[in-house]
Amino acid sequence: MWAAPGRVNVIGEHTDYNQGFAAPMAIDRYTAVAAAPRSDGLLRLLSGAGAFRGPVAEVPLHGLSPGRTRGWVSYPAGVAWALLEGGVLDRGSFGGADLAFASAVPVGAGLSSSAAIECATGLALAALAGADLPPAMLARLAQRAENAYVGVPSGPLDQLTAAFGVAGAVLFIDTRSGAVTPYPFDLPAAGLTLLVLDTKVHHDLGASGYPDRRAACERAARTLGVPALRDLTVADLCRAERELDEQTARRVRHVVTEDERVLKFVSLLAAGDLSGLRLRAAGELLTASHLSLRDDYEVSSPELDAVVAAALRGGAYGARMTGGGFGGSAIALTATDQADEVAQAVLAALPGADIFPAVPAGSAYRVC
Ligand code: GLA
Repeated sequence: MWAAPGRVNVIGEHTDYNQGFAAPMAIDRYTAVAAAPRSDGLLRLLSGAGAFRGPVAEVPLHGLSPGRTRGWVSYPAGVAWALLEGGVLDRGSFGGADLAFASAVPVGAGLSSSAAIECATGLALAALAGADLPPAMLARLAQRAENAYVGVPSGPLDQLTAAFGVAGAVLFIDTRSGAVTPYPFDLPAAGLTLLVLDTKVHHDLGASGYPDRRAACERAARTLGVPALRDLTVADLCRAERELDEQTARRVRHVVTEDERVLKFVSLLAAGDLSGLRLRAAGELLTASHLSLRDDYEVSSPELDAVVAAALRGGAYGARMTGGGFGGSAIALTATDQADEVAQAVLAALPGADIFPAVPAGSAYRVC
């Protein structure tokens, strides 16, 4: 049995496909898979996880290629495909597997249930084949499954977080180099609680909104003559406004200022305990990130805006949407003794919200 965590991105949103910075954490909610080898070339997949519940799906490994499967099955099938393509599984000798999933990562909540299923599957299949799969390779092949097999043009954030999560730490990720550096983020010791505010609402716009944003960023980088938006600083924003249309310039402003916010956030963590002025400054960075995602990047939603505003009214130090946006979840950083009030304020604003605390958790691993 293997398991991999969901994640919240603490700060650094829509920066990963711009080769920028992010500071996510794996959360204490895992997807687990029980796996057994087969010898007839089949993957047999079963899930007891909420939206994915259904009959056993059978996927022949021979001729497996993008487009062959649909629905949730595409995530584990895509990982098998990526491991075969990447040579981690040997086409001649790998005989297939039975995989049964259970998950505590809410689906469609922006908490990376897909990366959790991918990374748990990757570890399980590699182990059945007796192959070594170090975290960087696990993350890369899981992202390849999502990009090239499932067809979602996501960046490396979610899979890196599931593969490298560290209990009690935020991960500072430089997505250009792939370097992942843990920074202590011991919430209980600091008397802090990070609440996940799942709006339970997802807007269809997300399907086109994400690839649109990514394409706009890549066009902007080309126009401005840089390899990626990571290569710009706030000093370049005037030029961006001159050379780009108004909307694209706002997209660029989000990415450039968000990279700066990540760097400031991790420097606050590096400076010592999150308390006093440092804590206030960290909270303000989270809220500023939300406003930038709402106004410049335009990936928030009325429900996300409502829960963020309510959390702040309830006394949170900072709050922001997390993940790709267009619905899903927000996070709020609050003193633990204020957490009930924050939750009540959020529920008053959005009675259907699901609210739970999360702590930074460890990476994908073998359970037994
Ligand atoms: C989704 C994607 C990530 C990242 C975030 C936005 O979670 O899967 O790669 O782009 O959105 O930060």
